[in-house]
Amino acid sequence: MEKEFQALEKAFHQTLDTIKQVKDLEGVKTQFLGKKGKLTGMMKQLKDLSNEKKAEIGKKINQLKGEFQSSIQEKSNALKKTEFQLKMENEWIDITINPYESDSGSIHPISLVQQRLEDIFVAMGFRVLDGPHIETEYYNFEALNIPSYHPARDMQDTFYFEDGHLLRTHTSPIQIRGMETVKPPFRIVGPGKVFRCERTDASHDSCFHQFEGMMVDRNISVAHLNYFMKTMLAEIFESEVEVRLRPGYFPFVEPGFELDMLCLLCKGKGCKFCKQVGWIELIGCGMVHPNVLRSGNIDPVEFSGFAFGLGIDRLAMMKYDITDIRPLHGGNLNFSRLFSVS
Ligand code: DAH
Repeated sequence: MEKEFQALEKAFHQTLDTIKQVKDLEGVKTQFLGKKGKLTGMMKQLKDLSNEKKAEIGKKINQLKGEFQSSIQEKSNALKKTEFQLKMENEWIDITINPYESDSGSIHPISLVQQRLEDIFVAMGFRVLDGPHIETEYYNFEALNIPSYHPARDMQDTFYFEDGHLLRTHTSPIQIRGMETVKPPFRIVGPGKVFRCERTDASHDSCFHQFEGMMVDRNISVAHLNYFMKTMLAEIFESEVEVRLRPGYFPFVEPGFELDMLCLLCKGKGCKFCKQVGWIELIGCGMVHPNVLRSGNIDPVEFSGFAFGLGIDRLAMMKYDITDIRPLHGGNLNFSRLFSVS
């Protein structure tokens, strides 16, 4: 019996030595201490022994049982400790890293201004429409009262595709597409990218952004146009604004205007910001030309309307005091982050 004990003890320690993970200790427990385990097996043999032997061997078995249990417990503690240490080594976080220098994104200043404009006009009952960047000559020029012989086409030179399509030069085609989908009376706005064959400098780029608007109803006058433009500018610049209308020529409106805003910095005295003029030229606008309404199958006798188009880039530059248009389109994340609102 003594030999059996020794062999069992040896087998137990050998098995225990092979265990590398806490979860595998359960198996050792069952193998040696479980109901069908080796030690229990030996207990069962006790019944065949004399009382004296029974007491002696029984004591030994209990002693072994205690020894096995504490060895397993010890091993479990040691393994838990190393597993914890390993986890700490692998899963550490550096709490000295500055979270503000992380690579999280931010909304681009042009998008910020565009979204703000959309919200302002939606609140005033306008619908936001979209249009394609690649247009036909019909939508970009003809339907807007700019026939192929018209000199206004020269002012908006663009990139043409071999099949006659072109990159839209303004967001005004959204007016035409809008009239095809919504029936008067309506109020629509359409933001988006536009393209021109321009030489790039601090205030020009071959791709920029415009925001178009059109309101058609019965008895619409310049007073409506004035009211909506003033309201929009006051919201964008978060202050009262003064505006003036100068005659301006755009083939798709009659009369057409350039809308200027009194310089918010010098209040008209003249400063660096307004290039000493006192006023800032912001919006092309006017009363929708009857020919344009006809292109949209709208009777110009029954309905009238106003339309406007403004440069979002220019507005963003004014709002955020950006002096060069190029970084706005440069894709440098550090630049965009300067205007982040979150
Ligand atoms: N499409 C014109 C441009 O890009 C801007 C413009 C002027 C839009 C007058 C309008 C408008 O809707 O009525 O220069």
